[in-house]
Amino acid sequence: MLLVTGGTGNVGGAVLAELAGKPVPVRALVRDPARLPAGLCGAAAPNIQVVQGDFADAASLGRALEGVEAAFLASALGPRMVELQLRFVEAAKAAGVARLVQLSAAGANRNMCCTRVLRWLGELECGVAAAGLATTHLRPTVFMQNLFEFADDIRSKGLIAGPFRTVKWTWVDARDVGAVAAATLVDASHAGRSYTITGSDSLSYSEVAERMSEVFGRPVRYLDITANEARGRLQAAGASPVMIEAKLELWDACVSKVLNIPPNDVVRELTGREPRSLEAFLRDYRARFV
Ligand SMILES: NC(=O)c1ccc[n+]([C@@H]2O[C@H](COP(=O)([O-])OP(=O)(O)OC[C@H]3O[C@@H](n4cnc5c(N)ncnc54)[C@H](OP(=O)(O)O)[C@@H]3O)[C@@H](O)[C@H]2O)c1
Repeated sequence: MLLVTGGTGNVGGAVLAELAGKPVPVRALVRDPARLPAGLCGAAAPNIQVVQGDFADAASLGRALEGVEAAFLASALGPRMVELQLRFVEAAKAAGVARLVQLSAAGANRNMCCTRVLRWLGELECGVAAAGLATTHLRPTVFMQNLFEFADDIRSKGLIAGPFRTVKWTWVDARDVGAVAAATLVDASHAGRSYTITGSDSLSYSEVAERMSEVFGRPVRYLDITANEARGRLQAAGASPVMIEAKLELWDACVSKVLNIPPNDVVRELTGREPRSLEAFLRDYRARFV
C-alpha cells in the first residue's frame, strides 16, 4: 500500500493522477475528502482509497498509515510545516513505513539565514533524515502553477506585476513534479537519492508575459515594482504577515541569484516523458487566465 498526502494540492494531486487506475493500491490522506477532484477517487480511480486525516491529528495518522509500505509527503508552505510534517514522519516510523518520498525544493538549506522558506525546507529535510527512514528528497524549482497568483490581473489588465527584475527563473510544471514523485514512490531503488527537478526553460517574467501574449492571443506585459509595492499587493490579497515576508525573501534570493538552477533531464530520465513547456501549461490552463 502506498500513501499519498497533499492530494488536494498541486503536486499530491498530480501524484494521484499518475497512480489512478494503475495496478497498485493507493491511500490518499486528505483533510477534506469532498475537496478531492472526482477523477482521483471513486469509480474513476478504484485503486485509490480516500481517508480523512490531518498532520495535526495523531490518531488520524495512525489509521492512515496502517499497512503502508511507502508514503509521499507534502504540505503547503508555512511556518508550521516543519513541525506538522515531522509529526507525520514520526507516525510513519512508528507504523513501520519503509520509505518516504519527501517534497522539498531546490535550494533547501537549514543554514539559509535570510530566506526562511529555504531554511524551513532544509530543517525538514534534516528532520526527515534524522528519523532514519529510507527517503527520496524531491527538490523542484519554481512551479508554473505559481502564475495562477497573477491570473486576476492578467485577465482584467493584461498585467503581471512583481519585484522580479530581469532574472531568469527555471520553471517546472507541478504535474511533472508529481510524475517524478509517483515514479520514485513505486520504485524502491530511488531510496536514499535526491533529485533536483526542473522543466526545460529558464525565462524571465518579461519572457513569460511574451509567451502568454502569444498563447492567449492578447497582450500581457510585465511591470517591475519595488519589494514594498509587492508587499502592499500581497497584503491586499490577504496573505499573512509571515508569508508576505517569506515570499519577498524567497523572491529576493532568486533575483540575487542565490538560487540559480539550470534546466536538467531529471523529468525525462525518471518518467520517460519530456517536461511540459510553459506554452503547454498556458494552453492547458488558458481558462484560468483569459
Ligand atoms: N510553489 C513552488 O514554486 C514550489 C517550488 C519548489 C518546491 N515547492 C514545494 O511544494 C510544496 C507545496 O506543494 P503544492 O504546491 O502541491 O502545495 P499546495 O497546492 O499548497 O497543497 C498543499 C497540500 O497540503 C495539504 N495540507 C496542508 N496542511 C495539511 C495538514 N495539516 N494535514 C494534511 N494535509 C495538509 C493541503 O490540504 P488542504 O487542501 O486540506 O489544504 C494540500 O493538499 C511546498 O511546501 C514546497 O515544499 C513549491
